[in-house]
Amino acid sequence: MPEFHWHPPGGQTLSLFQEDCLTGLRRRLPESSVDVVVTSPPYNLGLRYGTYDDSRPREEYLAWLEEVALEIRRVLKDTGSFFLNVGGKPTDPWGPLEILLRLRPHFYLQNTIHWIKSIAVSEGDTAPVTFGHYKPIGGQRFLNDCHEYIFHLTKTGQVPLDRLAIGVPYQDKSNIGRWKAATRDRRCRGNTWFIPYETIQSRERERPHPATFPVKLPEMCLKLHGLERVSLVLDPFLGLGTTALACMKLGLSCVGFEIDPHYFQHSVDRLTAFLHSQPLFGRRYGTL
Ligand SMILES: C[S@@+](CC[C@H](N)C(=O)[O-])C[C@H]1O[C@@H](n2cnc3c(N)ncnc32)[C@H](O)[C@@H]1O
Repeated sequence: MPEFHWHPPGGQTLSLFQEDCLTGLRRRLPESSVDVVVTSPPYNLGLRYGTYDDSRPREEYLAWLEEVALEIRRVLKDTGSFFLNVGGKPTDPWGPLEILLRLRPHFYLQNTIHWIKSIAVSEGDTAPVTFGHYKPIGGQRFLNDCHEYIFHLTKTGQVPLDRLAIGVPYQDKSNIGRWKAATRDRRCRGNTWFIPYETIQSRERERPHPATFPVKLPEMCLKLHGLERVSLVLDPFLGLGTTALACMKLGLSCVGFEIDPHYFQHSVDRLTAFLHSQPLFGRRYGTL
């Protein structure tokens, strides 16, 4: 099975495997070796993936995801964070919550983050301004679905976070210095994260996959965990390698698995292109 490895001098590593994640996790990762997992599994919503069947009987799907989560628990350090991105659909809204209940015996739910893909904002009586993109839903029953969950799961519920690493400036600057914690112009942004999809010119060329997340999503999760406390990041469901790309941008090591040969090759090409685009590539990174 194809693999892609990049181990430049300096300690950063990237290891991608075209392999079933359960097999790969068991074969390749020792206990307590991973600091952060950022991943988005298939949601079982009947999406058309290349290899994976996304419409399995619910019980079979939940049992499989629990098995993967137990492997994640095994490889995660006690101080680690597991960011699990899942969404539902209006006709099947319980999916993410059923997954969460299934994982409840194995993890603490330390934070629930809402990934907001689109929002309409108005101040006072002004007309609302809309930001971001979403797939419109027809009919009269359902609202357009503009969010997904990011469940922040940990082994203890006590994992300290670098909240200000993804903080926002105070709107009212007089708060700086007024509160004991407010020593600089940064406050916690809270658990609603507006992250729009990046716009693309060609779906087939740039995003040949039905369910990717924007690179900013794993970047924010990793920064929130605290970059200085990350030695290794894992994504068991690589897709087009977005989590791995975030790691490369942040100078972190990453290991990941993807079963589909087409998506796997696309992620390898995407990461190779990124690494080659870095100004110091030859000197700093060696060759691929
Ligand atoms: C929701 S997508 C992940 C997308 C990814 N976050 C991105 O931004 O590109 C889930 C991926 O899991 C892959 N997958 C499904 N079953 C798998 C398995 N057993 N092992 C590894 N990958 C699997 C699918 O092929 C799909 O690409």
